[in-house]
Amino acid sequence: MTQCEKQLVRASFQEIREVAVPVARLFYGRLLDLEPSLRPMFREDFQKQSAKLMDMLATVVDNLEDPEKLNPVLREMGLRHAGYGVLPRHYALVEKALLWALAHALESGFHAEVREAWQGVIARVSGAMLAGVAHRDMVQER
Ligand code: HEM
Repeated sequence: MTQCEKQLVRASFQEIREVAVPVARLFYGRLLDLEPSLRPMFREDFQKQSAKLMDMLATVVDNLEDPEKLNPVLREMGLRHAGYGVLPRHYALVEKALLWALAHALESGFHAEVREAWQGVIARVSGAMLAGVAHRDMVQER
């Protein structure tokens, strides 16, 4: 990820933070529209769940200079997600819903470069979460 992309992600997240609750609402609405069968997986209160998602994104954005530092945390999170019933194919839906919510929140500020930079961030997070699951499956097969 280039310095310019990191800067675009940081600056746009600054705006997102101010409207975190409506953005999270847009995100979950879109996710459940894309895949209504996911609804029963979400048991926690919406406000609490969106705060956790936004906190995690903030941690990711705060660590763009040293993203590997978060790998252990993200792998553990991937394992917890497998426990919630999340499948690898669901990550593409989350990516789609998150980009859609960011686009709605940032409007014209979500231009092609910002979109690409965010896509890179989300793909990295998903990749690290899925690496946790892949590693566990590999160990279990031995
Ligand atoms: C970019 C990838 C993702 C991030 C950053 C993320 C973030 C989080 C965080 C921080 C939590 C709080 C609990 C915990 O840490 O285990 C959580 C819970 C959860 N996430 Fe994710 N998540 C991601 C991908 C997904 C995907 C692909 C799904 C499946 C559709 C999903 C469904 C859930 C569910 C069902 C819960 C538990 C909610 C509850 O107990 O009510 N997440 N997520």
